[in-house]
Amino acid sequence: MKAATTYNIDKLRKDFPILERVVNGKPLIYFDNGASSQKPQQVIDTLVKYYSGEHANVHRGVHTLSQHATDKYEHTRTLLQQFFNAEHDYEMILTKGTTDSINLVASAWGRAFLNEGDEVIISTLEHHSNIVPWQMICKERKAVLKVIPINEKGELLMDEYEQLLSDKTKMVAVNHVSNSLGTVNPVKEIIRLAHQYNALVLLDGAQAVPHMKVDVRELDVDFYCASAHKMYGPTGIGFLYGKEELLNAMPPYQGGGDMIDKVTFEKTTYNDLPHKFEAGTPNIADVIAFGTAIEYLNEIGMDAIAAHEEEILEYATEQMRQLEGIRFVGEADQKAGVISFLVGESHPYDVGVLLDKLGIAVRTGHHCTQPLMDRYNIPGTVRASFGLYTTKEEVDQFIKALQRIQPMLS
Ligand code: ALA
Repeated sequence: MKAATTYNIDKLRKDFPILERVVNGKPLIYFDNGASSQKPQQVIDTLVKYYSGEHANVHRGVHTLSQHATDKYEHTRTLLQQFFNAEHDYEMILTKGTTDSINLVASAWGRAFLNEGDEVIISTLEHHSNIVPWQMICKERKAVLKVIPINEKGELLMDEYEQLLSDKTKMVAVNHVSNSLGTVNPVKEIIRLAHQYNALVLLDGAQAVPHMKVDVRELDVDFYCASAHKMYGPTGIGFLYGKEELLNAMPPYQGGGDMIDKVTFEKTTYNDLPHKFEAGTPNIADVIAFGTAIEYLNEIGMDAIAAHEEEILEYATEQMRQLEGIRFVGEADQKAGVISFLVGESHPYDVGVLLDKLGIAVRTGHHCTQPLMDRYNIPGTVRASFGLYTTKEEVDQFIKALQRIQPMLS
């Protein structure tokens, strides 16, 4: 069945003040949601309200402000637990974002459980943030990093993945949705196969969670992480979901306040979950505003957002197919939110600059996936990435803009 938008998009767009902006004399068309999405007024209001009349440190004071701030901070954790259907709220660790979450697991889990000769599997589709932390810990622990190849369409070669799995595999770390190509990976199958070898699975969900419903228990995933700023929330905040027994077995990532139970100069014992992994004063305001963003998404409904974006993706892909000289990079059967492409022989940067002159924001370059670009033997792509507020009229303007700039590029 064809997906269709079920919410009032004109009304919803009014929640996002930045969408009223004029850029280079043109109404802004924001197609860079893969890099970061825009913020609804509700999220902005939460930040203003918090700093204007509610700020105090959390988990530390008996006074009213501190207790209120703590309640609101912890409420976001509960919202996250419910949003992702985790069993316990303390399985949701609040971090600086996806990169921080992956580094936490690579470092804390890796130092404790990765040994010489063990293997970690990643994929060709990974963002640098799901490559470099594993390279670093593999080097330190003398473990081996293996890479799942892809086909020309940008899909993981599942047969090759199965060949890579063995009793030596300790961790499989892949993205749920590729940031560069939009490929939706068959993560349930990836997890099922990894578990046959008792390997753990970490999913980088940064590009999945703004676009679709994710249920960590249904997936049976061991670690899942994402960032607030791609979910219409603030920057500098994200989460790491981990199964309770795994998080309990891991040593802390960073030492400091809040993560301790008892400190003497001879010895320190650590706090329980989730605080064991949240050293220091956290980003309180942004965590609370992250909660507002989740409530906002809940109100619209992730299924409704997924249906709308599917419709936009299909429409935009179809319109672009009519244009001559467009080369799609990544044409997976299952895609979400992203179209990566090249215009003739033009450099992606030139396309991005010309689109910007027409008020259209896209990302150009390697998208922090240099090995993936090497796989296609290209320096980068132009990436249009959509959000819950993207309209067909914006897609039409984008198509007209591509037609207009094409002669300037040749
Ligand atoms: N990882 C983000 C992107 O794909 C920043 O643009």
